[in-house]
Amino acid sequence: MADRYLEFASSGLGGWVVEALGLPKPAPLLRRAEADAGPALPLLLGPSADGRMADVVGRVTAASGVAVHAEWTPDVRYGALVYDASDCLSVAATQGLYRFFHQAIRSVAEHGRIVVVGAPPQTARTAEGEAIQRGLEGFVRSLAKEARRSIAVQLLYVAPGREDAAQSTLAFLLSPRSAYVSGQVIRVEAAGVAADPSLGHAGRHVLVTGAARGIGEAIVRLFAAEGARVTALDVPSAHDELQALAREIGADPLALDITAPEAAGVLLQTARARGGFDVVVHNAGITRDRTLGRMDAREWDSVMAVNLGAPLALTRVLLEAGLVRRNGRIVAVSSLSGVAGNMGQTNYALSKAGWIGAVDRLARDGLTHGITVNAVAPGFIETRMTAAIPFAVREAGRRMNSMGQGGSPVDVAETIAWLAHPASGGVNGQVVRVCGQSLLGA
Ligand SMILES: NC(=O)c1ccc[n+]([C@@H]2O[C@H](COP(=O)([O-])OP(=O)(O)OC[C@H]3O[C@@H](n4cnc5c(N)ncnc54)[C@H](O)[C@@H]3O)[C@@H](O)[C@H]2O)c1
Repeated sequence: MADRYLEFASSGLGGWVVEALGLPKPAPLLRRAEADAGPALPLLLGPSADGRMADVVGRVTAASGVAVHAEWTPDVRYGALVYDASDCLSVAATQGLYRFFHQAIRSVAEHGRIVVVGAPPQTARTAEGEAIQRGLEGFVRSLAKEARRSIAVQLLYVAPGREDAAQSTLAFLLSPRSAYVSGQVIRVEAAGVAADPSLGHAGRHVLVTGAARGIGEAIVRLFAAEGARVTALDVPSAHDELQALAREIGADPLALDITAPEAAGVLLQTARARGGFDVVVHNAGITRDRTLGRMDAREWDSVMAVNLGAPLALTRVLLEAGLVRRNGRIVAVSSLSGVAGNMGQTNYALSKAGWIGAVDRLARDGLTHGITVNAVAPGFIETRMTAAIPFAVREAGRRMNSMGQGGSPVDVAETIAWLAHPASGGVNGQVVRVCGQSLLGA
């Protein structure tokens, strides 16, 4: 659904009116499809050019043709700032962080990217060091709120010695693919299976549930465009949409209700026929919103079954049968409702928060063969689901985030594609919000 306010504020006259009235003026996000193919702006790397992230930053920028500057220069517009704060372990040392950003923050161009790198707080040797490393979260989340102009700001904790495993994540965070991800804290730890970051999804076997429309459709389109062999699953009643989509993008359609008694058997058979899946995306989801006192048992049960029960059971069946391949990825679509709770969504929020527990548990179980399990938690995404929300609530949902606008299904798809990347094995058991730093549950 068109965001009329964003269109108005971005027009010549509209922009003038909005500014004159002192209203917020969101900058339309620049995604991969719209990103300028022209020369990229330089990246400023601090506090020094030869810290532990220098090699990884060098490889990421070389791949995208971006120059790396080690010294801030007035009048230069930077496309990105990367600051390695891993050695910032005392209150006195935070002055370096302050000085760098105090100087450079206003030199970041619209749609720019900022990444602060830290070391996992528990690896610090002193209480003061741990406090400062943990404190980086507050710094980054505040900076993300101040940055505006569609600038995204993240904290990346990289375990000592795991710098190479951070490459696919840094590449994602510095790219237009992360347009609607901001204020996030991402940890990179040991990657179970080392993989070449220059590889992509080509030839990987990907299963996406709820694939016929909305976010699921964006996910299958993205993986198919990157050369993956995609199995697009949706309910039999979505047969026509699913067939048309599968034909258009060259995916394999699978008409199946994931809650049906035969679901596990059909999925096992399909997975065997494909030689297993490299990537499983649990995207199918439903809402049956009503305040708890008025909610009937069917509304409760159906949401619990589709959003949590069935995907958990199918995950177990695929893992037990060894049909998630080596270096495989399982990604679930959770929701901001699961993080913050939402009026009329006790059933939905339980099912979505359930995935936060599930990825935590599955990652702690230490799945073998380098398989990782993560979740994304979308905020307000422009789909049929959100178009049905009453006007005032919809407007509030759109604006109550640091980007001042709703996200697009492709923002969720891009985030899933990064987590599912063969070289993203160092990211495991995490929930990444795709919400433009929503104020809800912040
Ligand atoms: N749109 C948002 O703003 C938003 C925000 C947070 C989370 N999410 C989550 O993202 C996912 C996709 O949402 P969407 O907005 O694209 O919704 P949607 O309703 O447009 O699409 C959901 C798809 O899942 C399919 N599905 C439903 N039940 C199924 C079943 N039993 N078996 C197989 N497929 C089934 C539907 O047929 C549909 O094609 C959902 O899990 C949703 O909860 C969406």
